Amino acid sequence: MHVTAFCSQKGGSGKTTLTGHVGVQAELAGAGPVALLDCDPQGSLAAWWNARSAERPAFVSTTLATLAHDLAALRERGFREVFIDTPPAVSRAILTVMELSDLVVIPTRPSPHDLRAVGASLDLAERARKPVVFVLNGAAPNARLTADAAVALSQHGTVAPCFIHHRTTYASSMIDGRTVGEVYPGSRAAKEVEILWDYLAGQIEKLDRRNGFARPEPRGFGRRGVQLFQEGEAPLAAEAL
Ligand SMILES: Nc1ncnc2c1ncn2[C@@H]1O[C@H](COP(=O)(O)OP(=O)(O)OP(=O)(O)O)[C@@H](O)[C@H]1O
Ligand SMILES: [Mg+2]
Repeated sequence: MHVTAFCSQKGGSGKTTLTGHVGVQAELAGAGPVALLDCDPQGSLAAWWNARSAERPAFVSTTLATLAHDLAALRERGFREVFIDTPPAVSRAILTVMELSDLVVIPTRPSPHDLRAVGASLDLAERARKPVVFVLNGAAPNARLTADAAVALSQHGTVAPCFIHHRTTYASSMIDGRTVGEVYPGSRAAKEVEILWDYLAGQIEKLDRRNGFARPEPRGFGRRGVQLFQEGEAPLAAEAL
């Protein structure tokens, strides 16, 4: 079982949106069974899941006090991917979540305020000795700022070479507990999420290899081949990263 935590000190960077979207996409891509955990007292992910009619991915209500125990129970029940949504904070509690995770995803908007806030979350992940992937969320099409942000972030760690653009469908699709891929299959937004999950799956596979675990079926880079831009769209600026 792999555990991925979505963490960032900055409020509104996209932790909940990406946890839900990546979780559903992982399940659709056959990487499940997937479980989603909400460690944020705001309970946004829980509220989204409660509005959802599909039963997959599973949702587990948890607290920091019970997180380790809940993860052990999920492992025992055969869950393969777990995604944890966290509150906008840098605290002992977030450190604990990171310590219990295999991978930390830091969603970041391409704005100077967000970029300045990234350091604190990154320091925490370093303390937890966990690998980090930055995901640029809310990018404007062809904005120089996004490319600059990707370059700036790449000085500090791995940047997912696929941006999540600002699209109102990310928000609207979550109203009734779904995701953009479920409401607008085949849309550009849906494709972005697919590409993001493919990339994260490749990173997770790398961690498995590093830890000496072999997968029965190869996944990630070789088979999927991370697609950096969509047909008819300009290549994303991070392609060079
Ligand atoms: N790519 C996007 N395009 C358009 N809207 C987005 C996008 N990503 C997130 N949003 C919207 O931005 C707002 C904040 O996103 P979200 O709740 O996922 O952030 P968060 O990091 O979980 O916030 P918090 O720190 O408060 O938990 C939400 O209203 C969400 O619908
Ligand atoms: Mg949130």
